[in-house]
Amino acid sequence: MNNSITIIRPDDWHLHLRDGVMMKAITPESTRHFNRAIIMPNLVPPVVTAADALAYRTRILSACPQDSNFTPLMTLYLTDKTDPDDVAAAFANGIINAVKYYPAGATTNSDSGVTDIKNVMPVLEKMAQIGLPLCIHGEVTDPNIDIFDREAVFIETILDPLRRALPELKTTSEHITTKDGVDYVKSQSKNHCATITTHHLMINRNHLLVGGIKPHYYCLPIAKREEHRLAVRAAATSGDVRFFLGTDSAPHTDPNKETGCGCAGCFTATNTMALLAHVFEEDDALNKLEKFTSINGPKHYGLLPNTETITLKKSSAPFLYPKKIETAEGPVTVFNPGHDIYWQVIE
Ligand code: DOR
Ligand code: ZN
Repeated sequence: MNNSITIIRPDDWHLHLRDGVMMKAITPESTRHFNRAIIMPNLVPPVVTAADALAYRTRILSACPQDSNFTPLMTLYLTDKTDPDDVAAAFANGIINAVKYYPAGATTNSDSGVTDIKNVMPVLEKMAQIGLPLCIHGEVTDPNIDIFDREAVFIETILDPLRRALPELKTTSEHITTKDGVDYVKSQSKNHCATITTHHLMINRNHLLVGGIKPHYYCLPIAKREEHRLAVRAAATSGDVRFFLGTDSAPHTDPNKETGCGCAGCFTATNTMALLAHVFEEDDALNKLEKFTSINGPKHYGLLPNTETITLKKSSAPFLYPKKIETAEGPVTVFNPGHDIYWQVIE
């Protein structure tokens, strides 16, 4: 039995840090264990220009604890009006590491997203030429498509045609939740990857809905059937270079989650590494954890892995992580898988 594991310090390839007092309160939850993170641009208003990204980056750095070396990797929010040359200049100047594609209306603060992929083809063509990665929220928004099918239909109707049109574009399907998403990544060349969240490795739609609705398990893409969770989990624990961690840790206050129309998002920054050690151990794959959290992601983004390490230890007593993070906007509930976790990061 392996009760301790030391791995290269992890990065989070999909993170929501928000802004203002919320950002101030929750940023230390990520900087404690992660060295870098791809920062989502879905603020209100969104991060659309290089100047927006630079200003947001400065605000994030001022929300980091004094002793942290955390590096936010910035993204721009793709809109119908994004100018290919602006995006290229932001990349050339080292201000951004990726561009985020939200179909308009697909999720939280996505109203300014892309209404038709045809509108952004010139930007995507430019990105393919210069090697700038595209992060994709892969769900269709057609009201006639069932919410549980939206990821699979996106792959068929938007992603695959895009990959065929621009095979050299580096793409990441963010937070995949289906076997369809896993199979599609495996069918593609290595410049198409997927991020996987911690919570989608641990919950299926029964956890969300059976025995009473659990608002803190509601996120988008919504958790799917067990067979999909198992496929996603097998991909994460396989060590395959095309799958890596993007927590999608997305804080909303309890009043905004526990209400008649609750917000989508699970907040996992605080305990993600402990939860992942639990998951990987359960699947007899602790030796693949480092690939998932610390090696595969930098490779896709053309960066080197971190040089520091972290150590996780399994104790006989459960890890007592905070149930909530208090913020000036209200409490944010930390994701609780519904059972004890015995792993924790010790250094
Ligand atoms: O559950 C989610 N929450 N999914 C997203 O795509 C956005 C995120 C958020 O910003 O709250
Ligand atoms: Zn997200």
